[in-house]
Amino acid sequence: MSLTAHEVHALKKAPSMEGVLPAFHERWSPRSFAAREVSAEALKKLFEAARWTASSYNEQPWRFIVGLRGDGTWEKIFAALGEFNKNWAKTAPVLILTAAHTRFSHNGTENRHALYDLGAASSYLTLEAAALGLAAHQMAGFDPEAARKAFGVPAEYLIGTVIALGYLGEPTALGDAGLIKSETAARARKPLDEIVFSEWDKAAGI
Ligand SMILES: Cc1cc2nc3c(=O)[nH]c(=O)nc-3n(C[C@H](O)[C@H](O)[C@H](O)COP(=O)(O)O)c2cc1C
Repeated sequence: MSLTAHEVHALKKAPSMEGVLPAFHERWSPRSFAAREVSAEALKKLFEAARWTASSYNEQPWRFIVGLRGDGTWEKIFAALGEFNKNWAKTAPVLILTAAHTRFSHNGTENRHALYDLGAASSYLTLEAAALGLAAHQMAGFDPEAARKAFGVPAEYLIGTVIALGYLGEPTALGDAGLIKSETAARARKPLDEIVFSEWDKAAGI
């Protein structure tokens, strides 16, 4: 018997630790989205969260192109997705294409942290989504050059990810057995000893 959306969300939540913001426990990347629109008000909150991200020289190199299911922007973003992602993202009410400006506006030199800053802003967006009871799923599986062409993205912008966004749907709605299996599987993370060090090869033991 497959799990309901509610049960899956309980399973996917990260173990809570006192003092860690609730949104960090709520956020995960679902593939099944409910047939429920995301309000303009909610979208505004997500982009407000992204807007206040820190960035190198406060350049704010990020740009978000938002498509709502049924509009031409959504269709153009969807068309650039790889087949695997098309298979599940077809029900996402919102698709967002992200890009980063790779030149500093104050002197025109290369901003080698542009993609880093875009990633940080995207993270803020996904955390705000979690706090609002929404779900976001970032994707690298798309053709960035097709997306660039579809929107006329200038060469000095790097294409980042596509983010699928909406409310959590029922896992069985995915149809495909493989997708349902990963939608209902527990999440895994490396232990802190594998990512936090006091020397290059010495775990900090935190
Ligand atoms: C940059 C990036 C690219 C990703 N690309 C894809 C993708 O193309 N397709 C997909 O299904 N998931 C994709 N994911 C989702 C990851 O697989 C997912 O974040 C990871 O398994 C951890 O799961 P969690 O987000 O639920 O914690 C991507 C995530 C990131 C951050």
